[in-house]
Amino acid sequence: MASLHPLATLFLSYLLLTLFLSEAKHPTSSKSTIIGQGYRLISIEADPNGAITGLLQVKDKNNIYGPDIPLLRFYVKHETENRLRVHITDAKNKRWEVPYNLLPREQPPSLKQNIKRLKKKKPLSVSEYSSSELVFSYTSDPFSFAVKRKSNADTLFDSNSNNSDSFGPLVFKDQYLEISTKLPTDASLYGFGENTQPHGIKLHPNDPYTLYTTDASAINLNTDLYGSHPVYMDLRNEGPTPLNVVDQYTSFIGRPAPMPYWAFGFHQCRWGYHNLSVVEDVVENYKKAKIPLDVIWNDDDHMDGHKDFTLNPVNYPHPKLLNFLDRIHSIGMKYIVINDPGIAVNSSYGVYQRGLANDVFIKYEGEPFLAQVWPGAVYFPDFLNPKTVSWWGDEIRRFHELVPVDGLWIDMNEASNFCSGKCTIPTGKVCPSGTGPGWVCCLDCKNITKTRWDDPPYKINASGLQAPIGFKTIATSAVHYNGVLEYDAHSIYGFAQTIATHKALQGLQGKRPFILSRSTYVGSGKYAAHWTGDNQGTWEDLRYSISTMLNFGIFGVPMVGSDICGFYPAPTEELCNRWIEVGAFYPFSRDHANYYSPRQELYQWESVAESARNALGMRYKLLPYLYTLNYEAHIRGAPIARPLFFSFPNYVQCYGLSTQFLLGSGLMVSPVLEQGKTEVKALFPPGTWYNLFDLTQVILSKDGNYVTLNAPLHVVNVHLHQNTILPMQQGGMVSKDARMTPFRLIVTFPAGANEGEAKGNLFLDDDELPEMKLGNGYSTYIDFHASVKEGTVKVWSEVQEGKFALDKGWVIDTINVLGLIGNGARATMEIDGTLSYVKIDTTEQSYLYGKGDGE
Ligand code: GLC
Repeated sequence: MASLHPLATLFLSYLLLTLFLSEAKHPTSSKSTIIGQGYRLISIEADPNGAITGLLQVKDKNNIYGPDIPLLRFYVKHETENRLRVHITDAKNKRWEVPYNLLPREQPPSLKQNIKRLKKKKPLSVSEYSSSELVFSYTSDPFSFAVKRKSNADTLFDSNSNNSDSFGPLVFKDQYLEISTKLPTDASLYGFGENTQPHGIKLHPNDPYTLYTTDASAINLNTDLYGSHPVYMDLRNEGPTPLNVVDQYTSFIGRPAPMPYWAFGFHQCRWGYHNLSVVEDVVENYKKAKIPLDVIWNDDDHMDGHKDFTLNPVNYPHPKLLNFLDRIHSIGMKYIVINDPGIAVNSSYGVYQRGLANDVFIKYEGEPFLAQVWPGAVYFPDFLNPKTVSWWGDEIRRFHELVPVDGLWIDMNEASNFCSGKCTIPTGKVCPSGTGPGWVCCLDCKNITKTRWDDPPYKINASGLQAPIGFKTIATSAVHYNGVLEYDAHSIYGFAQTIATHKALQGLQGKRPFILSRSTYVGSGKYAAHWTGDNQGTWEDLRYSISTMLNFGIFGVPMVGSDICGFYPAPTEELCNRWIEVGAFYPFSRDHANYYSPRQELYQWESVAESARNALGMRYKLLPYLYTLNYEAHIRGAPIARPLFFSFPNYVQCYGLSTQFLLGSGLMVSPVLEQGKTEVKALFPPGTWYNLFDLTQVILSKDGNYVTLNAPLHVVNVHLHQNTILPMQQGGMVSKDARMTPFRLIVTFPAGANEGEAKGNLFLDDDELPEMKLGNGYSTYIDFHASVKEGTVKVWSEVQEGKFALDKGWVIDTINVLGLIGNGARATMEIDGTLSYVKIDTTEQSYLYGKGDGE
């Protein structure tokens, strides 16, 4: 790809994909206008590092969206067998790129190389450049390139257009970049976010995908939302698997963060817990209702005047809060609070004073840029400035000394501004802070249109409204550290804040941090979890939450979920029942509601409480599995929640499926997503599937099929595929207790199998450690195996670093073997096995087996 500009608009048409980096064409047009004549290759050479570098000269210039850049340098390198880098930039002038210290990328050679010398180089006689798997080839005039896979001759990228194509050659202007690729006519594409995709997870031909971090509520369909992820996956039923692709992608952008164990417990939040007694009450009511709860959250209600790092002395008195935290911490529960980037402009506020003294804010015309968010007038910290990172870390440290929070929720970091343009505080007027009228900008603001950054020649479809790009955010001509323009750095604002917050928490606690960020960018998953923002309590939004969650797995941010029951307005009781049945299986499971919504904690309706006990009860039994999936995400990028095609890449029937999902490779959730339904029509890929609640079988032929399942109000269908070993525990009300209960393995064979094998794994560690890895003396990894042959079942394990599990005293007390021939097709072995030494060899006549042999 060309250097990725965070300001990106993407446009798909049937046969081609045009990735508009920086500015793009009219987003509502479904047909491209050819706006450039392209470039011709004038020289090329191989360099000693095995890369090739060339010069491209513009053909006929024009001025649409600004003048063409006359001379470009292109640089191509096979960075790994499967990763090719194509970097195209202005040969003479350095352009802004996402800083190399934010993304772990190799820096291309500087532009200082001798262009005169390069100009004299004749084009190489060969026009191909290969690794053992990828072949890069080019045509010289007009310049285009293609990337092919050697193993199957598939073309992965091809920017070569001819007269019959509806797209043109490479366009490179200062504020408008365009490169296109041909796609197979039946391409199945996924990715490009963040957006709410009304058609489900599969990208839709002819839809524009605008990527520009924006605080537009998630209810806006297919517009720019909080995050920017310019990546797509092109699924073809051959070649690397989807898992392999996310492995490659996350090895490049950063592996997903290790999460503490408790983060997989259930979280309760709401905006409008007016005082601490209400929060205490909520915790108490969860306990009474016997619904598991690990984490209780505060939105900005605990703050004094909505100011970060403060406590409201009346509603959240410090000693009382500390006492509450002592109590919840003693039972293993955790506490998280919100934090917005906007720092209140208030001369008696220490955070502001220290920020000013350290000169940490984004500037406009030499002064801090004035905006308005919940506290009223605010300045935005510039997280690209190393001084800001230190100041932010220090503010977090000070707050943590006051309130020992267990994680931070960073919100409004797109950045969201209630005003647009250049603002001043009107004399004698105090901006309202907080909710209600605080939403409206009270500052005197003038639209800024005087620079080409504020009013670029090409208008993106900002906020889905074709608004100016500075609409309700920082003015794009505002300036960051080292003169970087907000125009360039806009979409990495939240990402930079995430990194600064991560650094602060990790340094402070020496523990694995938990951060939830609304705005994300390429690489955010290495530091933070994400929720899908302000959704609605509607059936549509319940459905959309699945696609967005699955997309974030592809983006390398696997710890993701939506506000359960919807952020606003009030959900119906039935919807909230169904939502917890889906949300209990989100990787990140949190109920959150708006200030104006009625209360919607799960115990508020007895029917919802019952569904929650059922679904969350199952989640708490699955915690060791979810945690193992987090380990797999961390070491190889594997999403926790996955589209079905991740496990069944050749099963084309599931390519567009967005109403069901997998946890890991073989556990399938098929929820009810429509009002009034008590059945669900679920697609089952081939094989035998076992209902995880009652272990009954669903047997599918080799073609798989839709099956209508019973789903009364309190029932969610979760099925486990054949050939799997699922480690579970007994659950509990808080993950700390659930974690110490005995293990049980569910072993699944194809129904009636005479022969078969099953596999599963388990990762355990001290989840307080910053790193999640083997080899530190505080972790254990187990591969479970099982086989059935001629009536004999064998279950065994291969253990790495078993001592940690042994010392913890974890045991397996039951193994359920499903699918055996005869005897009702299931068997339960009660064993007394030390977790790390499972070895059982039994026949179907003696299911009641004794000890793990502790070899
Ligand atoms: C934003 C967040 C929402 C939060 C609110 C108040 O709208 O998306 O979750 O409750 O701000 O802080």
